[in-house]
Amino acid sequence: MTQRIHRVFISCISGSYFFLNKILICNLYFSLVIIQKNNLIMKSNRRNFLKTATFAGAGAMTGGLLSGCASKEAESNLPAILESAKESHSQRFNMSGYAVPALPVVRVGIIGLGDRGSEAVERLSKIEGVEIMALCDKREVTVKESQKYMDRIGRPAAKEFYGDENIWKKLVELPDLDLIYTCTPWILHTPISVYAMENGKHIACEVPIARTIDEAWQLVETSERTKKHCMMLENCCYDFFELLTLNMARQGMFGDIIHGEGAYIHNLLGMNFLKPLDDKQADEAYTDMWRLKENATRNGNLYPTHGLGPICQVLNINRGDKMEYLTSMSTFDFSMGPREKELAVQDPFYAPWKDANFRGNMNTSIVKTTLGKTIMIQHDVSSTHPYSRIHLVKGTKGMARKYPNELIALGEKWAKDDEMKEIWDKYTPEIVKRVGDMAKKVGGHGGMDFIMDWRLIDCLRNGLPLDQNVYDGALWSSIAPLSEWSVANRSQSIDIPDFTCGSWKTNKPHEINLETGGTTKVLEVREAEVEMEVNVK
Ligand SMILES: NC(=O)c1ccc[n+]([C@@H]2O[C@H](COP(=O)([O-])OP(=O)(O)OC[C@H]3O[C@@H](n4cnc5c(N)ncnc54)[C@H](O)[C@@H]3O)[C@@H](O)[C@H]2O)c1
Repeated sequence: MTQRIHRVFISCISGSYFFLNKILICNLYFSLVIIQKNNLIMKSNRRNFLKTATFAGAGAMTGGLLSGCASKEAESNLPAILESAKESHSQRFNMSGYAVPALPVVRVGIIGLGDRGSEAVERLSKIEGVEIMALCDKREVTVKESQKYMDRIGRPAAKEFYGDENIWKKLVELPDLDLIYTCTPWILHTPISVYAMENGKHIACEVPIARTIDEAWQLVETSERTKKHCMMLENCCYDFFELLTLNMARQGMFGDIIHGEGAYIHNLLGMNFLKPLDDKQADEAYTDMWRLKENATRNGNLYPTHGLGPICQVLNINRGDKMEYLTSMSTFDFSMGPREKELAVQDPFYAPWKDANFRGNMNTSIVKTTLGKTIMIQHDVSSTHPYSRIHLVKGTKGMARKYPNELIALGEKWAKDDEMKEIWDKYTPEIVKRVGDMAKKVGGHGGMDFIMDWRLIDCLRNGLPLDQNVYDGALWSSIAPLSEWSVANRSQSIDIPDFTCGSWKTNKPHEINLETGGTTKVLEVREAEVEMEVNVK
């Protein structure tokens, strides 16, 4: 028994192998076993882990172990990444294009109410048919603040869950929920998503939805077996320019698409080292320093999905093409280590990271697809640079580029301002025409967050497939561990798993023109004022 618990624990932490030099002590596990071995490489049974995690009871245990360890981010496990990337799987049921019967009322439970989750409560409150039934965060203050917001806008009180690391399970187990919406630190994304599906709920999870290849497969296997939607909330797919270029690509305006580029270049150096204020709901810092821990233990493109998601949609990845292999390179770190050393001298709070081997500043990864296209993805969150997701789409007849300025060329020259206006008028997709103005008013990264939430709820209310399915979340997230392996191996290429198990050949691209659905209204709510209904048509 102890050995099995031990194996599950090791799998939770790092997949198939784990290098142990020290005594590992971690919450629940602490009460079960303390391991002390020197330079011992432990091989665990990954299949057992996946099998164990496929039923609710064991899923609960897995989640418990992981969430109990949430204060210590797991280190990269490079041999496991390679082993998992090579494994063959077979599809049990195709979740691409899958829809469930219409849910006119979507009963939602929200987990993780910090900076991002608090905004999600506000956005979801403005969508017709959403009932926010339950709120959860380990920190009480966040639950109380979101509850106060709901009260101010006249929404009924939600059930409250707070107080410990595993409290989210209680919310997930509620019988009267349809959808779990989670905005927690990355290490909890897969455990919460799997537990939600095991408990009969659809899951919408912040990015990235998985940290390892094993986790990505676990999501795929669980979604196929339970037939529950598993959507990663990649909001950048709903940015106005990204949607414009997707529509143009679909209409052949760029010719055959050859190449795409995406990135997450956003200087978070200050935020990564900011001390969290536990008595505040939103403080711009990362609770328990979770993001600093990720950056101190893994080296690669840790946050690939914002730049990659929209490019994958343009290239019909998982729906007509698939990713074959990836190669990745990182610079050394030139800023996090020095910042850490500076801070550690002044404040013992930073001492735990004084010897950390921080992720290299700039990571560049390149993917080759089966149909011979290429994708470049960059990641830099620790050097000075204006924000950029690049979003470059290049075809045989034209190209688009979002940063630093939104430019489109349908020939050898960039379109002039008046030509750009014509392009916007002609190719803005229906979804933006329908809710774009309202989304700008509601806000959330200029409106894209709201379009994403509205579309998710509208699909559920109309019994439509979701735009992003479990294969997309698994694949886009898997770039992080694959890049870690390639970076550590002198940029050698690594095969990218086909999470669709071959169904990419026949899967159809998702629908962007609201040919069906589009019936959900946007509620204009004003705090302490009367609710006003606005028809989105
Ligand atoms: N899509 C986007 O544009 C976007 C933007 C910002 C953040 N995010 C994502 O949102 C997520 C949250 O980021 P954030 O900036 O809000 O971080 P945050 O630290 O502000 O919030 C995380 C919240 O999770 C809570 N939490 C931690 N462990 C918990 C547990 N065991 N049970 C219940 N609650 C727990 C924390 O108390 C905190 O309130 C991350 O995954 C991040 O990548 C996405």
